Amino acid sequence: PTEHTLAVIKPDSTQEHKVKETKLTREMAEEFYKDHKGKDFFNNLVDYMSQGPSIMMILSKENAIAEWREMMGPADPEQAIQVKPDSLRAQFAKSILENAVHGSSNVQHAMDNIKFIFGDIPS
Ligand code: CMP
Repeated sequence: PTEHTLAVIKPDSTQEHKVKETKLTREMAEEFYKDHKGKDFFNNLVDYMSQGPSIMMILSKENAIAEWREMMGPADPEQAIQVKPDSLRAQFAKSILENAVHGSSNVQHAMDNIKFIFGDIPS
């Protein structure tokens, strides 16, 4: 049966890292995912990402990009369940499209993503 819990990002985290709730417009979602333009799932991705608010966080630590991607697991939850059952997507993703979480894929994307959402890069 489905059980519920309360997850809290506590004050030390919201002070240390940056957290913002943002509902992307269709245009923002198209820009955010411009590298996927032309793929068969692009329209569905834009619909999905603009359907409601996302909680955006800048996670700051050594090796943050790779480690957050490791915690997320593969985009496809069926694959995630096989290769990384303790990952967030294995546990919480509905489908390869509605896959719960995003993480920038490299330093350049991270800087682009952060600039796009927060307007500046933390020093
Ligand atoms: P994300 O890691 O944010 O990067 C691109 C997103 O596109 C991905 O998460 C999914 O939400 C979505 N996506 C990737 N591949 C597919 C696919 N084959 N079918 C549908 N959606 C996809």
